[in-house]
Amino acid sequence: MPNYVAYNSRLWDAWSEDCTTWTIPLTPEKFQQAKNGPIEFVLTPTKKVPLSWFDGVGMDVLGLASGGGQQGPVMAAHGYRVTILDNSMRQLQSERMVAEREDYQLLALQADMTLPFPFKDESFDMIIHPVSNCYIEDLQPTWNECYRVLRHGGVMMAGWTNPILYMFDDEALDNCDVPLIVRHKLPYNGRVEVENGAELTMDTGYQFSHTLDAQIGGQLKAGFLLKDFYEDNDPGIHLGAYTSLFAASLALKM
Ligand SMILES: C[S@@+](CC[C@H](N)C(=O)[O-])C[C@H]1O[C@@H](n2cnc3c(N)ncnc32)[C@H](O)[C@@H]1O
Repeated sequence: MPNYVAYNSRLWDAWSEDCTTWTIPLTPEKFQQAKNGPIEFVLTPTKKVPLSWFDGVGMDVLGLASGGGQQGPVMAAHGYRVTILDNSMRQLQSERMVAEREDYQLLALQADMTLPFPFKDESFDMIIHPVSNCYIEDLQPTWNECYRVLRHGGVMMAGWTNPILYMFDDEALDNCDVPLIVRHKLPYNGRVEVENGAELTMDTGYQFSHTLDAQIGGQLKAGFLLKDFYEDNDPGIHLGAYTSLFAASLALKM
């Protein structure tokens, strides 16, 4: 496992302990609601995944870098067989806690998504991959593995960050009173920045912007066809007043 991945794993353990936006598990009330209502969850900060994305897809789901107890329990509430791969022990504990509480079967594995996945070819019908590839340096091996473990006719729904976010310092993104000044050339590479003396903090860890070639072209290169797409935003980020900052894509393995 690369060193930066090990650092990010500890970072997500700490964030999960602190209960941040992406680490709060589904409550019992929300689980009951999920059972009685349509499938509802996000891959990006606010927009729900369209219901049409689940049409005609089989029941074996991989939640990729999806620990924390958000998407997995919703899918389990709808009768899907859920496997979660995540690199944070603490996020996986939350996932297991919900499964035990609500009494459903779950396979939750700690693994690094930059390495070959611990699954046989064509194991899943669906991959749910919320915004998380900003924590890995090279996307192509991960897209290739997603393609390998999906069955033909299977889909991958992936949330990702608009790379423009990484042109600015966090201080300006978080605070409307700080001017938005372009600071970084894209693609931003947190590992190289730290090697060149940038401060490494538990506020952000190692992050990476990716080119659209890597995000969209990479999925196509792996063999996927893109079927649908939407943009989303985060009202809490200063730059979000000027442009959308997140996207989600639906890819199909023919
Ligand atoms: C923004 S959270 C998404 C999960 C969450 N269920 C949600 O609400 O969408 C990002 C997740 O990516 C995971 N992650 C980061 N780097 C990873 C890696 N190299 N391999 C596997 N998981 C990773 C983190 O542990 C974290 O759980």
